[in-house]
Amino acid sequence: MNNPNIFKLEEYLGQYEFKAPYLLCCSDAESITMQEMIDMGSSSSKDAWNKLSLGYTEVSGLPLLREQITQSFYPKLSANNILCFSGAEEGIFCALYTLCDPDDHVIVLTPCYQSLAEIPALKGALISHISLREENYWRIDLQEIQNAIKPNTKCIVINFPHNPTGQVITKNELQDLVDVCRAHNLWLFSDEVYRLLGNPSEGWAPSAVELYEKALSLNVMSKAFGLAGLRVGWIACQNNDLLKKIEQMKHYTSICNSAPSEILSLIALENKDKILARNNQIVDKNLQLLDSFMDQYRELFSWVRPQGGCVGFVRYKKEESIDNFSKRLVDDKGVLLMPASIYSHSSNHFRIGFGRKNMPESLEKLKEFLQD
Ligand SMILES: Cc1ncc(COP(=O)(O)O)c(C=O)c1O
Repeated sequence: MNNPNIFKLEEYLGQYEFKAPYLLCCSDAESITMQEMIDMGSSSSKDAWNKLSLGYTEVSGLPLLREQITQSFYPKLSANNILCFSGAEEGIFCALYTLCDPDDHVIVLTPCYQSLAEIPALKGALISHISLREENYWRIDLQEIQNAIKPNTKCIVINFPHNPTGQVITKNELQDLVDVCRAHNLWLFSDEVYRLLGNPSEGWAPSAVELYEKALSLNVMSKAFGLAGLRVGWIACQNNDLLKKIEQMKHYTSICNSAPSEILSLIALENKDKILARNNQIVDKNLQLLDSFMDQYRELFSWVRPQGGCVGFVRYKKEESIDNFSKRLVDDKGVLLMPASIYSHSSNHFRIGFGRKNMPESLEKLKEFLQD
């Protein structure tokens, strides 16, 4: 196996994330302290926390946690349709590496979180990148996907709410995509890590796994819940044979999840509505500020207003490259944006993040820079 290409986004964040004071490109919601989380626990989960043994855990994830995941997200599935991972990233690696074979063909919507295309390519699959287009409001174009299908197509990879544009998929669009996958007997890998954060005008589409027997729905505690430090993610899939093979890949990566993180995830999911309401309130408020910002600086910037998640893709309208602008901004004011080049996207866009509580402060610093 060759080494994968450098993960540009993670490399970029690694360079600045713990140095730049104003992170205006984060893709996660505001986090929660350990104390707040423990205080939210029911008496039985507090008991589980206090009596927790710090040995190895079950490879597929704590059964109680997997049950809570199905109740919270996929009520028609059962705990054995869930396989837990260390974050969503391990789920992407194990699932796509297992699913794809050399010379398979895989369709990926771009721009995208790099590993969604990189891991199938690492395994030797041939990738068709289908570009989401701004003039189509970054929406999925089913016709383009259909045109790209070949006899050796194995899988379609989607991510909605989409990183970096914040576009969502509607229930009808998802159903149409499932119909196409079913007609061609394709797997559908659906990265849903931003689902339930935001307020899409047409409501939330279901998880792909609820509609399709060959779907893998990926989710995680990192984004909508703001709990990236737990490193707990999962894949939901109706096909237990595939889940078993993916689990066998996990033996080579993390083996099992962190015991404390499993209990903390359980507490978070028991308080799902409360945590999501708090995070959605922050996102709503920040989006309103961004609406006025976009209005005030419409000569400089434009965007398709995000429908879900906590990131959007803003076009910088000046001649200057967004790479240069972003570098000047972080050097001068410590405000971090994420230019399109990090997504290998040749445009003058940047990702903006609005999930964090201190986002208004970061936006003020950006304004200061623009006024200077
Ligand atoms: C679309 C998408 N999928 C997966 C991940 C990885 O998530 P995690 O950090 O929880 O592993 C990210 C992180 O930014 C993401 O944006």
